[in-house]
Amino acid sequence: MCGIVGYVGSRECLDIIFEGLAKLEYRGYDSTGLAVVGKDSKIYIEKSEGKLSKLRPLLKNLPQIASVGLGHTRWATHGAATTANAHPHVADKLAIVHNGIIENFRELKAECEAKGAQFKSQTDTEVILHVLIDLYKNNRDMKKTLLSLREKLHGAYSLGILVEDEPSTIYFVKEGSPLVLGYGEGENFFASDALAVVEHTRKVVFLKDGEMGRMTPTSIELWDEEGTSLEREPLTLDLSSFHIGKSGYKHFMLKEIHEQPAVMAKTIQRLVDVDKGTFNEAALGLDAIDVTKIKAIHIVGCGTAYLAGVIGKYILEPIVKVPVQVELASEFRYRDPWLNEGTLVIPITQSGETADTLASLKHAMEKGCQSLAICNVHFATIPRTAHGTLYMEAGPEIGVASTKAFTSQVLCLYILAHALAAKLKHDIPVSSVMEALKALPPQVEHGIGLGPVVEKISQTYYEVQNCIYIGRAANSSIALEGALKLKEISYIHAEGYAGGELKHGPIALIDQHMPVIALCPKDRHYDKMMSNIEEVRAREGKIFGIGALGDLKFQSICQDFIGLPQSSDEFLQSIINVIPLQLFAYHVACKRGTDVDQPRNLAKSVTVE
Ligand code: F6R
Repeated sequence: MCGIVGYVGSRECLDIIFEGLAKLEYRGYDSTGLAVVGKDSKIYIEKSEGKLSKLRPLLKNLPQIASVGLGHTRWATHGAATTANAHPHVADKLAIVHNGIIENFRELKAECEAKGAQFKSQTDTEVILHVLIDLYKNNRDMKKTLLSLREKLHGAYSLGILVEDEPSTIYFVKEGSPLVLGYGEGENFFASDALAVVEHTRKVVFLKDGEMGRMTPTSIELWDEEGTSLEREPLTLDLSSFHIGKSGYKHFMLKEIHEQPAVMAKTIQRLVDVDKGTFNEAALGLDAIDVTKIKAIHIVGCGTAYLAGVIGKYILEPIVKVPVQVELASEFRYRDPWLNEGTLVIPITQSGETADTLASLKHAMEKGCQSLAICNVHFATIPRTAHGTLYMEAGPEIGVASTKAFTSQVLCLYILAHALAAKLKHDIPVSSVMEALKALPPQVEHGIGLGPVVEKISQTYYEVQNCIYIGRAANSSIALEGALKLKEISYIHAEGYAGGELKHGPIALIDQHMPVIALCPKDRHYDKMMSNIEEVRAREGKIFGIGALGDLKFQSICQDFIGLPQSSDEFLQSIINVIPLQLFAYHVACKRGTDVDQPRNLAKSVTVE
């Protein structure tokens, strides 16, 4: 989603801001812009539709000796991805960049137009600009203006503001969307993600909703929503969690797929002592939770994180022995679910910033629920909000399509389920759980080693227009995840179904042109799954099977087949099964020539609802 970078200092800032924006590219965007204050105290801007590479040549039109500025990558919400709609928006000696959505922008726009404001874009951001201009005209004091602005705006917004009257100052406001301040020596920064500033300073403050302030090269002032001054002690970021590079891989997605065995091994080592058969309760976030109070669990998440949650339901309910529900955060937050202090809510999120997941968490906490986030990004808003956090420690995930975060989420849920059960003194087969965990990283490694086979298979499928994925139990969610990966990065229409559901509708789609990717490991659902596969074959559907190594019976009825090592645990098997599906989506997308790491229309961190 939108990225913001701001700088005040004594260095020439064009490159600092541009490079900061480049670090935020992974969030997904479709237009860009940059504004600086020149030596004459005037604001200059350049904007472009498309990627940062289109903005780069335009920077020569800006004053090169400028040390105060703002940059923005926009992910279109109101109005198309055009240069006119790109940020910053500038008028009457003010410039603004915005991340978020203003819900009452229509009413505010009508008010501004009635007062004579002329709009050059279709954005809600330009509406904020004109409200700001109007308020500033009346009181000529930016702090007072921001306090009044907050009363007028409904929605989510992180703002960066330049004012020609104060050429060495940037103002900022945070409500809903993330904003982090970076404290340097004789220079200060802000950005929507610490990644954009960490190269310059490790000292940061993550703003809370309602906070705002101003920064100059030598000072940062912070105010709460009443305008009272705030003191916040900066945190020091751990650089290791910001190391990003492709390490020789063609795409971040491929690199992240290959990192999975190491991520699995590291996660197991951190959360479990496999030799002693014990769990690290502090790392699991369980120190922050009273497990004896748990009478029900609600898992919430979006997209891939939600699908990990669906597997979590299969894992947790029989082991922890409490009812478990899993729900899309965008539905949960508006459904008024039955929640109380006996409910443990588990938000699952790679970024820790997803707007709907955050709102669901807040809603559940207001109802008195305990909360335990599963999150990858340290200091993100969701772990800072929840009572406890189980950090996945999967390392930065830059490819927009989630891969290692997904498998890491499922693994964390698996370990969490057993740790909760152990803490509740339920009987669990500790030694077989530990054995299955120990075996997992090499089994995942084996799956990744099949990359060249999957690549070859993808040659047969890369021109199809539709694809169906089927599986049972936890693998029904893997079917959905496989389909999601394919549609996200290759733009092929794909759907996932529970095998038993096929004959209740989707089977109408099956004919010789419909590839069906069937997950059929050697587990207790094998016979039922084989019957579903036969139903597809009877209608001339083509089967690409994901099964057990050496399962000749299944292999013999497949057009293409990938045999995988089998875990002794059906839930851990689902992690192994998703690997060829990630690789398949990747190779199909490469063959179709799409932008694998930054697929069209998608954002990595979805900070608006
Ligand atoms: C799919 C994907 C998305 C995210 C979803 C939630 O590959 O990446 O579906 O899983 O937007 O994001 P997080 O986990 O950051 O809350």
